Amino acid sequence: MMLKNVITVGKDSQVLQLARQYGLEVFAADDINEALYLVKRVNPELVIFDNRFNPSDIRKFTNAVSKDSNSCIVSVVNEAAGNISQAFLDAGANYYLQGEKDYHKLNEIVNKINGISVDDTDVFFADNLAASVTMVGKSKAALHALKMIKIVAASQCNPVLIIGETGTGKELAARAVHNLRSPSQPFVAVNCAAMTANLLESELFGHVRGSFTSADREKTGLIELAASGTVFLDEISEMPLDLQAKLLRVIQEKKFRKVGGTEEIQCKATIMASSNRNLSLEVQAKRFRADLYYRLDICPVTLAPLRSPHRKQDIPLFAAYFLKTSEICPQKAGKITSITKLAVEALQRHDWAGNVRQLKNIIDRAILLENTDKIGLDSIVLDSSKFEEFSETSQTETIKDFSLEKAEKQLIARALQETHWQKTKAADLLGISRATLYAKVKQHSIEIVGEENDEVVQQLPQECMKS
Ligand SMILES: Nc1ncnc2c1ncn2[C@@H]1O[C@H](COP(=O)(O)OP(=O)(O)OP(=O)(O)O)[C@@H](O)[C@H]1O
Ligand SMILES: [Mg+2]
Repeated sequence: MMLKNVITVGKDSQVLQLARQYGLEVFAADDINEALYLVKRVNPELVIFDNRFNPSDIRKFTNAVSKDSNSCIVSVVNEAAGNISQAFLDAGANYYLQGEKDYHKLNEIVNKINGISVDDTDVFFADNLAASVTMVGKSKAALHALKMIKIVAASQCNPVLIIGETGTGKELAARAVHNLRSPSQPFVAVNCAAMTANLLESELFGHVRGSFTSADREKTGLIELAASGTVFLDEISEMPLDLQAKLLRVIQEKKFRKVGGTEEIQCKATIMASSNRNLSLEVQAKRFRADLYYRLDICPVTLAPLRSPHRKQDIPLFAAYFLKTSEICPQKAGKITSITKLAVEALQRHDWAGNVRQLKNIIDRAILLENTDKIGLDSIVLDSSKFEEFSETSQTETIKDFSLEKAEKQLIARALQETHWQKTKAADLLGISRATLYAKVKQHSIEIVGEENDEVVQQLPQECMKS
C-alpha cells in the first residue's frame, strides 16, 4: 500500500529515491522552513529528514508543526551516530534509520503508518457460511470451530452442543449450523437462565388449558413452534434438574407432552444447547445430570476465548470487521478506514473477559471517540472507569485512595499518553526534567506502550460529527 503524500527534507537524492518507493506524491524541501510550509499545505503521512539534520533541527520542526498534523517523522542519521540516535527520538522523530543499511526498515514503518485497512476484508473471513452468518477468524482455533460447525451441519447430529465463554459466538455458531442445515425452518432461542422452572417448562412444551391457575388458554411450546428447525437452549447449565430429566426424554424419544396434557407430540426440531460453564464440572458438582451431559456431548462445537494465544491473530481481523460493519455511527464509521498498529497491539494485549462481544463494544466506542480517519491508541478505551478520571466528582468528592505514589504514577502515565510517548514533551508537561521523568518511569515500572509514536489527532470534517 502506498502513502499519499511524503515530504523529504534535505538534499540527499537517495532519500528522495527512497521516498518515491512509498509515496504517490513526493515533495522535496531543502530546509526546515520549506518543510514546515509544505506540511501545512499537503498534510503528509510521512516526513523523512536526511542526515544533514541534527536533533535540535528536528526539535525545531516538531515544535513548530501544528498539533493537527499526523505526520510520521523519520530521521536518517549517520551510520556512526550510535548513542546519539536516541536524541532524535527525544526531539520528536518517530523513527530513525541508521544510514543506508537501515533503508529497508522504511517498509515496516510504512506498514505501521498504514495500519490495518478495512478494505482488506477478503482476508478477514474464515468463511461466509450462509448469506446471513459471517464467521470472522483465521486462527487455528477459529478454523477448527468452523470445521466442526460444517461437520455437524452436514450430519443429522441432534442434539448439538456449543461450548464457550460468554461472548465467544455461541449463538452465532448455532445460527450457522441452523442456516446450513435447515435455513427455511424457524430458529427459536430460549434462555434457560432467564425463567423459573415452571415457566421454562411451559415455554418449551406448551400447556393445556387449566393446567395451572393462570393457564386460561392452551399454549403451543417452542419445540412445536420450531417445527423441523432449531430450538436453541441458551445457558443449558442453568436448567433446573427436574426439567433436565424431561428434556432428556425429548432427546431420546423425540416425543413430549404439553404441561397438563396427555397427548404425545412429535419433536422434529434439532435441539441445540449452549453453555459457558464446563458441563463436566457441573456434573461433578451434581448441578447437571450426567446422562443428559453424555447425550449432549456427541460432537461439541468449542469456541476458544479471545485471550487464548491461538486467537491473538484474529483480533486485528475482528477489529477491522467490526469497524466496517458497526452501526453505531454509520457516517463516521464509513470515514474511518483503518486502525493503527499500536491500537491493534493494545487490543492484542488485553485479556477480553467478555470475548468477541466486548471487542465489538470497544470498537464501537473507539468509533465514537475517534476524530481522524484511523482508529488510534487514544480511542481504544479498554476500561470505562477511565472516563471517571475526567468527571469532576471523582476528583473532588470520591477519592478513596490517597496514595501519592499511585497518583504520581497515574499522572506520569497520563502525560506520556497525552504526548504520544514523547518523553521530552511529557517532561515539559509535568514540569520536570527528562532525566527525572526517566527515573520515575523506571521507579513506577510504567509500561511505555510504544517507543514509536501513535498518530496525532486530526479533525474530521464537521459533517461527519453530526450524528
Ligand atoms: N467469529 C465471529 N465473527 C463475527 N462476529 C462474531 C464472531 N463471534 C462472535 N461474534 C459477535 O460477537 C457477539 C457475541 O456473539 P454471541 O452472542 O453469539 O456470543 P455468545 O457466546 O452467545 O455469548 P453469551 O454467552 O454471552 O450468550 C455477537 O455480536 C456476534 O455477532
Ligand atoms: Mg448467547
